[in-house]
Amino acid sequence: MIDNRKAYKEFVARKEKLKEQYSGDYSERQHKKGKLTARERIEILLDEGSFHEIDAFVKSAGGKGDKYGDGVITGYGTVNGRQVMLFAQDFNIMGGSLGYVHAQKIQKVQGMALKMGHPIIGLIDSGGARIQEGVASLAGYAGIFHHNVKASGIIPQISVILGPAAGGAVYSPALTDFRFMVKSTSHMFVTGPSVVKEVLNEDVSFEELGGAQVHASKSGVADFIYNDEEHCLLGVKKLLSYLPSNHLEHAPKKKQNVEDPSFQEKISYILPEDPSKPYDMNDIVNCIVDHGSYFEVGENFAGNIITGFGRLDGATIGIIANQPKIMAGTLDISASRKAARFVRFCDAFNIPVLVLEDVPGFIPGTNQEHDAIILHGAKLLYAFAEATVPKITVIIRKAYGGAYIVMNSKNMGGDFNFAWPTAEVAVMGPDGAIKILNHKELQAAEDPEALKKELVAKYKDEIANPFIAEEKGFIDEVIEPEKTREVLIGAFNLLKHKTEQSLPRKHGNIPL
Ligand code: HXC
Repeated sequence: MIDNRKAYKEFVARKEKLKEQYSGDYSERQHKKGKLTARERIEILLDEGSFHEIDAFVKSAGGKGDKYGDGVITGYGTVNGRQVMLFAQDFNIMGGSLGYVHAQKIQKVQGMALKMGHPIIGLIDSGGARIQEGVASLAGYAGIFHHNVKASGIIPQISVILGPAAGGAVYSPALTDFRFMVKSTSHMFVTGPSVVKEVLNEDVSFEELGGAQVHASKSGVADFIYNDEEHCLLGVKKLLSYLPSNHLEHAPKKKQNVEDPSFQEKISYILPEDPSKPYDMNDIVNCIVDHGSYFEVGENFAGNIITGFGRLDGATIGIIANQPKIMAGTLDISASRKAARFVRFCDAFNIPVLVLEDVPGFIPGTNQEHDAIILHGAKLLYAFAEATVPKITVIIRKAYGGAYIVMNSKNMGGDFNFAWPTAEVAVMGPDGAIKILNHKELQAAEDPEALKKELVAKYKDEIANPFIAEEKGFIDEVIEPEKTREVLIGAFNLLKHKTEQSLPRKHGNIPL
């Protein structure tokens, strides 16, 4: 006969032992570093009481095998009522380093998330490959990366860096869709400051090498940065609210105080009278989307292009917009990379795309050419042309040359191209065009400035306006700025059941 009482007693004793592991000075060690513990992080991220841990009693394959969990907590729960899978590395156990068992636990939740179609969130706080386990820990990373790639485009994968992400620890986040970091406490680097010193004799701090600010503004590795862990984790919850759980679903609708009528009036006054003057494209975005729903992605990187999520009549859209406030909204390598990746995410997860265009062209220069703007710019072309989700462009002001083509123009597959009456659509701006077309007359003119003025006005009247493009069908409709929201809601509604099939192939060959 099975002695149930004995089994139950053992069950309780094991639970107690596990609890003990996470008591005493456990929390203090992390708090002293300005960090939360893995369990505290999970509590903030998930709906209260929804966390179910799995593999809590798994033990290390080597090293300090007396601890449960092998330095990572894994399981599932809900965020705003929707299921997610997660893993949270525990820096208190061998520095959150990744041994083989630790890796097996992560791969188990990765596999479950993929099979069941739930987003997966990784809370990273790790010294990288566990040195004492040798090649087994490297193999562990390889398995995680393989799962990351298999899940890419099927479930949203989010990485939250909440401490060190050293060595191998950086590449799983790099393969996921979004990366969050916290100022001062998170650091990501392939090789740390001591190796940099040894190899290059260069003195660099953790913060200078791979801090949140650096990755948010210089490398573009971090999509979101926050001042503290709590706000960072709340940011993850917010992002999830815009996303579907997997590639077969649509993002949940959220209709709440969607419209502020004063914005429809305000939108007409945002553009300056002088077309060479900058303005903040964010103001236009805020007037179009549901009130308060705009959530920018990659705010600190390549500010000349804006990417972000918003809602139109409750439904998620992805927004890509030139920012005339920074570098006059020109496209460069960083902007092309940033926008291309965002378009591909939206396309993979059934998120319709809205483009707001005001772009004088690609930025010229040897640096850009030598660093392959040709290939990077082509990424954005590829991403728009490949995307089969509803795609709408509104030309606000400038739409010149290659940049016009790139920003989801009609013949690149844009479903609708609208334009404001202020749009300037042409091969190039008036100044450049006149220099090429009228240089002889300008040289011979008694008053070249007066002639230039006259020629610019003629060029705008006859070539650089939206009406010629409208007459030729490249613009579907020139619209009043204050009608933009209404027109877009209607057009996206019309496109709701859009289907577009491509010929079967293994995969395309995006210019990486
Ligand atoms: C085993 C590790 C470890 C590791 C840290 N620890 N990293 N154990 N393997 N990779 C242990 C420490 O020995 C220590 O154990 C505990 O974790 C806390 O570490 P500290 O150094 O005391 O903490 P801190 O001062 O906060 O520094 C954190 C750190 C530093 C910056 C992450 O530990 C560090 O530089 N670690 C090595 C980082 C690194 O080079 N990783 C790359 C591995 S190679 P005790 O017992 O003293 O508490 C790699 C290649 C894979 O990942 C490539 C795949 C593409």
